[in-house]
Amino acid sequence: MNIGQEIVHWYQQHGRELPWRDTREPYRIWISEVILQQTRIEQGIAYFYRFIERFPDVNSLAAADQDEVLKYWEGLGYYSRARNLHHAAKTIAYDLDGKFPAHHTELIKLKGIGPYTARAVGSFAFDNPVGVIDGNVLRVMARYLGDPSPINQPATRTRFQKVIDQWVEGVDSRLFNFGIMDLGSTVCTPTQPGCLICPLVENCEAYKKGLIQTLPFKEKKLKRKTQYLHFYLVTNSAGQIAIRQRPEEGIWGGLWEIPNEEVSRETWNSKQDPHEGDWVMKFKHVLTHRDMMISVYELPEDQVPEYQHLKFISRQEIPIFAFAKAVLKIFDQWQQMG
Ligand code: ADE
Repeated sequence: MNIGQEIVHWYQQHGRELPWRDTREPYRIWISEVILQQTRIEQGIAYFYRFIERFPDVNSLAAADQDEVLKYWEGLGYYSRARNLHHAAKTIAYDLDGKFPAHHTELIKLKGIGPYTARAVGSFAFDNPVGVIDGNVLRVMARYLGDPSPINQPATRTRFQKVIDQWVEGVDSRLFNFGIMDLGSTVCTPTQPGCLICPLVENCEAYKKGLIQTLPFKEKKLKRKTQYLHFYLVTNSAGQIAIRQRPEEGIWGGLWEIPNEEVSRETWNSKQDPHEGDWVMKFKHVLTHRDMMISVYELPEDQVPEYQHLKFISRQEIPIFAFAKAVLKIFDQWQQMG
């Protein structure tokens, strides 16, 4: 048996019975998946029954008041999920004649339906031959493949998606996906996996190499960093502004900026510029992995560090260059100051 067959076979003997698994109705499957993104199975079952009783089909959900939909979502959190659910229900009921698109590539176009939900509904309701990867499935795959890639990176998920789509070939995708999900949540558990009862143990790379406790690997979130920076507005006698281009690598790669340098927090707070520039403004610029505390100074042309790398442009030429957003903020403020 290949891995797909192994998993289906195991599911037929050990799989869990869950209220959204004995239906092929896309509406119910969709609701269950969105609820399960918010809560554990036990609590999810209760919410699922309550929701389905009040909104038994896509038309009843579409016709409901948003306030009532939110009421049925109360306690689950992340209320934009409920609003998106309502929005997509209206699209299906009123624009698509009450019919769900039958393929994951179409389902994903609906509001709030991402790659996971699109594949789940595609597989469970419409037999789309695709794998469905949730957190449990990622763990099973990382271990079976002995793959040390960080599972929280999109590139890893993309690669795993290709692999699982091959595993599903030639078997019932629904049963396969239910099976691999259950295997992850009942056997291939995070801390004490039941390798001795696992149907995949023979070809499990992590088991063979003693890496069960090490995999899956997760990249730690980078700690947010705060940088303190001085940015320099430099104009020459012709009224032109000094700009420079950043190297291709690293932050703002290839973008244009005005001269700037990192300073210590103490210097930043003191408003004493090492080049004796005149203080103009300060603001905080927030990026994904860092906060930039930016202080802007005006500097005479002959005080600029690394003068040779600068280019002078007129204010009118600013739109021609691609500047980092923080620099555009500076230009905007500066413009307003006259
Ligand atoms: N069966 C179908 N979808 C599921 C999910 N999201 N979690 C657990 N079991 C499921």
